[in-house]
Amino acid sequence: MPTLRISNSGSALLLLAVLTTFMACAPKKSPPVPMDLAQESIIPIPVSVKATNSSFELTSATDIYVQGDSKELLKIGQYLADKLNPSTGLGIEVKSSNEAPAVGNIYLSIKKDAKLGAEGYNLNITPDGVTLEANAPAGLFMGVQTIRQLLPAQVESSSKQEGPWRMATGTINDIPTYAVRGAMFDVARHFFSVEDTKRFIDLIAAYKMNTMHLHLSDDQGWRIEIKSWPKLAEHGGKTQVGGGKGGYYTQEQYKDIVQYALDRYITIIPEIDMPGHTNAALAAYPELNCDGKARELYTGTEVGFSTLCTKNEITYKFIDDVIRELAALTPGPFIHIGGDESHVTKKEDYIPFVNRVQGIVLSHGKQAIGWDEIALGTLKKGAFVQHWADVDNAVNAVKQGSKVLMSPARKAYMDMQYDSTTQWGLHWAAYIEVDSAYIWDPATLVPGLAQKDVLGIEAPLWSETVDQIDEVEYMVFPRLPGYAEIGWSAASARNWDGYKKRLGAHGPRFTAMGINYYPSKLVEWKEDKGKKLKN
Ligand code: ACM
Repeated sequence: MPTLRISNSGSALLLLAVLTTFMACAPKKSPPVPMDLAQESIIPIPVSVKATNSSFELTSATDIYVQGDSKELLKIGQYLADKLNPSTGLGIEVKSSNEAPAVGNIYLSIKKDAKLGAEGYNLNITPDGVTLEANAPAGLFMGVQTIRQLLPAQVESSSKQEGPWRMATGTINDIPTYAVRGAMFDVARHFFSVEDTKRFIDLIAAYKMNTMHLHLSDDQGWRIEIKSWPKLAEHGGKTQVGGGKGGYYTQEQYKDIVQYALDRYITIIPEIDMPGHTNAALAAYPELNCDGKARELYTGTEVGFSTLCTKNEITYKFIDDVIRELAALTPGPFIHIGGDESHVTKKEDYIPFVNRVQGIVLSHGKQAIGWDEIALGTLKKGAFVQHWADVDNAVNAVKQGSKVLMSPARKAYMDMQYDSTTQWGLHWAAYIEVDSAYIWDPATLVPGLAQKDVLGIEAPLWSETVDQIDEVEYMVFPRLPGYAEIGWSAASARNWDGYKKRLGAHGPRFTAMGINYYPSKLVEWKEDKGKKLKN
């Protein structure tokens, strides 16, 4: 009946109006108060967490105090303030103090305790304040990453968000398992700007990684200015995979990246890949080719077709100049000499080559690291081998007294697709879903190696198929926090079921950080996928 229909929709409208008014007036439901530190989703999982079942709140009266007036500690305090202020709007200031501050503040201090090593820390949160102690500044920086994760996810937003800003109370004692925990960024196949590289650094720092390996040269491009061989960058840096315009870092820009990383306690390992993967250099300087003829620039994705002329002295003059300039730009101990997939270099030429190049690196005060093939040569003092493919090479490296950096392609290559539907990436080593990326142990993956033989873990991101930073983020997240945990946390403390719950809780954090992540179906994400906060 028409009258009834009118009356029904009329009452529905009335109900809607009442509900809307009620909802507009009802107080907003406050978020639950975090009370149980042991339930917090910290990645990497700390060595020990003890809850005291109360909470601490950041307020407009909160400031960050650092012990003494050390510039370095003030910088760490400022890093934390700069993370907290945009979202909280609390105007947290950084001050120096020789004693623990009054209630309501955060205190960062150095307390000599060799057991904490270079990167360990103790965090004590009470209802009255937060105290972070470490044996060395890097430990404070690592502890600061934990503080970030104990606050609501919206703290990561770069625009003002609603509080309250509370953390559960208790103590955390923490120290990493491996000395090196890192990621590689291939800026050679596609070039990425200084800004993109800094973004990559920021994202790995948030998960307590301490190393970024920059793959600075390959067939498709040479990405670092070398003043004594200027055409390397000027000509060899002109293009990239697919024929785009490429690019390179000037030495000033590179220094800026290195300092940015250093400020986040991240060591950069620069790589000049050789004797293969050198087409860009061979295009820039004809004398590096055995036939004296310059190669054409290359924009494809084949590997293994190029080689420096290992028999000509000019090649070693070139390498000496490049390593000298690069060593001067490198505060860290390592120079990466590549050495992989030199399929057109005869073995009898390859071995003396890698032996000699290790010596050049040593002569410039650095230690050589190379892909696992360099173990075919004689490893020199302080040389490390990066395992990616051949387990025999890894075992051989250890037999020679070297340690191995673990980057097994079938587990740790972040350019491998998650599954057959992944838009970017490749799958020649494996499809690597988030569980597969997490479930392995660097100490036991290669038979014949033990934990003492492992320098650490590195997850490489090759860039043949990605040329935008949001594509990079999609391949890197959410696998990277798992690699960070494998490197930081003891194998006995790790399990997939527990990890995937913690990872799911990081979804809103990724969103607040503006990360374009892959919402794997294996993880229950604590938010609607794709729901982005405004940054
Ligand atoms: C490599 O993936 N060629 C080290």
